[in-house]
Amino acid sequence: MKGIILAGGSGTRLRPLTSITSKQLLPLYNKPMIFFPLETLLNAGIKDILIIVAPGNAGDFLKLLGSGKEFGCKFTYEIQDKPEGLAQAFLIGENFLGSDSATLVLGDNIFEDNFSEAITSFQSGGRVFAKEVTDPERFGVVDFDENKRAISIEEKPNQPTSNFAVTGLYIYDNTVVQKVKTLQPSPRGELEITDLNNVYLQDGSLDVAFVHGKWFDTGTFESLFEATQFVRERELAKA
Ligand code: G1P
Repeated sequence: MKGIILAGGSGTRLRPLTSITSKQLLPLYNKPMIFFPLETLLNAGIKDILIIVAPGNAGDFLKLLGSGKEFGCKFTYEIQDKPEGLAQAFLIGENFLGSDSATLVLGDNIFEDNFSEAITSFQSGGRVFAKEVTDPERFGVVDFDENKRAISIEEKPNQPTSNFAVTGLYIYDNTVVQKVKTLQPSPRGELEITDLNNVYLQDGSLDVAFVHGKWFDTGTFESLFEATQFVRERELAKA
C-alpha cells in the first residue's frame, strides 16, 4: 500500500491567506496543515508517500518536509500543473504506484480517527469514508438504501439526498489508474473523485465505511478556525 497526499489547488476561497502560500501550509495551531493528513497515513503504517503540490509553492513543501527521513518514511514529489481534479492524482502518480494499491488523503482534511485497521484490511475495489454533516451540499454526498448499502454518490448537490459527506480519504486497488483514464472532465473542467467512486460503485466494488471521530475539510474560514480549535484542544489535553 502506497500513500498519496494531494496538496494542489489554488485555495481561492481562503484568499488573502492563500495569496502568499498554499492552503496546506497554513498553520493549524502549532503545525502546518499538511502535517495532519501526513500523520493519518503514517499512523496507518504507510511509509512510501507521494506528495502532489501546485507549482507555485513547491519549494516550500520540499523545505518543510524534505526526504521523509525525519518522519521515518520516503517522500516523492510531483507537480499538479493545474487544478484539474482530485482523480488526476492517480494519473500523476501512475509511475509512483506501479502495481500497488493507494490510499489518497487530501492535504486539507483533518481526521481524528486512526485508519490503520481500515487500510491494512483492504484487499480490492475501493473504500471511502462517510461522515454525517450539517452542510452536505459542500461535499460529495452518499445516499444509502434501507439496508445501509450505498446507492449513489453526487458531487456538491443543490438538494442533497442524505447528510453523509464523503470525506477526503480514499483507498483504491491498482485498477484505479485505468478507471481514471475512462473519466471525462466535469462541467467545471475537473476529473472528479466522485465520478471515480461511482465507477467503483457501479461495478459493485465500493465499500462505504464511516468516520467516527471528528473530521474537518478546511476549505472555508469557519472550518479552518474550527480545525485550529480542535488541534489546540488536543495539544493542550496532551500537555
Ligand atoms: C472534495 C471532493 C468532495 C469531498 C471533499 C472532502 O471537495 O470533491 O467530493 O467530499 O473534497 O473534503 P473540495 O474540498 O475539493 O471542494
